[in-house]
Amino acid sequence: MSVMYICGGRPLEGEVAVQGAKNSVLPILAACLLADGPVVLEHCPRLSDVTAALDILTHLGCRVRQEGHMVTVDPQGASGCALSERQTRAMRSSIMFLGPLLARMGRASLAYPGGCELGPRPIDLHLSAIRALGCEALEEGGRICCRGHPAGGEIRLALPSVGATENAMLCAVGAAGESVIQNAAREPEIVDLQNFLNTLGARVRGAGSGVITVEGGRPLSGGRYTIMGDRMAAATLLSAAASAGGHVVLRGVDWRHLSTVLEVFHRAGCRVRSREDRVELKRDPDCPLRGVDLIRTAPYPGFPTDAQAPVMAALAAARGSTCFLETMFDSRYRHVVQLRRMGADITVAGRLARVRGVEQLHAAAVTAQDLRGGAALAVAALGARGESILSGLHHVDRGYEALEDVLRQLGGCVRREEAGRTQPA
Ligand code: EPZ
Repeated sequence: MSVMYICGGRPLEGEVAVQGAKNSVLPILAACLLADGPVVLEHCPRLSDVTAALDILTHLGCRVRQEGHMVTVDPQGASGCALSERQTRAMRSSIMFLGPLLARMGRASLAYPGGCELGPRPIDLHLSAIRALGCEALEEGGRICCRGHPAGGEIRLALPSVGATENAMLCAVGAAGESVIQNAAREPEIVDLQNFLNTLGARVRGAGSGVITVEGGRPLSGGRYTIMGDRMAAATLLSAAASAGGHVVLRGVDWRHLSTVLEVFHRAGCRVRSREDRVELKRDPDCPLRGVDLIRTAPYPGFPTDAQAPVMAALAAARGSTCFLETMFDSRYRHVVQLRRMGADITVAGRLARVRGVEQLHAAAVTAQDLRGGAALAVAALGARGESILSGLHHVDRGYEALEDVLRQLGGCVRREEAGRTQPA
């Protein structure tokens, strides 16, 4: 098991390209099951969640190949319809195979999905969506067993769930007839999924709005697609620059996908500039961040819940207070205990977290409890005094490709080594 050693107090400088988006490539990999020929994905991030998705596709009978940031999936040999307990629990996105398996096989069987422990993560909206398309979904002995070939229909989501919207789209593509998804989530990753499906010959319209229309039953060919930039990886790197001070430029991310995060850092006193696919943040290390009163997470285009932890880590060392209201998940403050070990002054009451800025955090040995919370601890360590040790990196590796290398490229004093070294250098 490896750990990250992070020396804080050094400004970040430089320009890096942002990785491909985890939350886009995962549903797109599941969607490859719908094609009748090989699919080539470019700009695919090298993540443990991607490896888990490729493992599932192989288990289902697809031929997969990963070379650098290019992944090829040939689904022509796919015949399976059941995911093992291990595969399903490896990540939340295993649920994304439900829709395409029903569309292709008319059957699907999987355990309850795993993923970050952010409080209850029900799948009722996923099941109601496939039922609305005429499929049967039974929960038997801890597994979800679904059957039936989807017919077109209307799906009304009680919540704009990202995953349920994506599952509904993938199931509807294989349905015999037109489907309409009401109260659909509007995240940019859903637009990426629509663009991918249409590249293969589907007719999906409306992604990014609350109403998505799918003309089902069209044959999908193989094809080639480039995954969008990861706005959450970008938000994390911007938080790192805000925390440490300095000047970073991120390439390959659409600034409009990050506008609420950019606005927060602007209000916190950073100089933020953006154009087309580049975002730039600058903070003079001698000018501390300012608290920004209130940050409320919300479905897109609101402030993204996945940016809450990294942004909190940066604002833990600021002049003034910031209150976070986490409206999306019940338990998404597991990084607070770890930040307190670094000297942060944060009090949590239910979904509200009050951050009283301190002058500077200090180094500590801290442990990631989930994906974004783990990255947040690296953000905090970059602005802290001394050398921190970050463990629990298996959480971070699910969503960040070689985070230690990226931070080092930006001038961060970061290295990753096998745990158990006697003395950090
Ligand atoms: C996606 O998760 C992302 N994961 C999450 O990112 C992200 O935090 C979340 O969307 C919200 O933006 C991927 O895309 C792989 P939801 P998802 O369904 O689809 C409730 C990360 O760090 N809900 O939009 O699981 C749910 O409990 C991860 O990259 C139901 O009640 O999120 C939550 O309160 C973490 N019933 C709300 O909806 C359901 O059937 C939003 O969840 C489904 C969801």
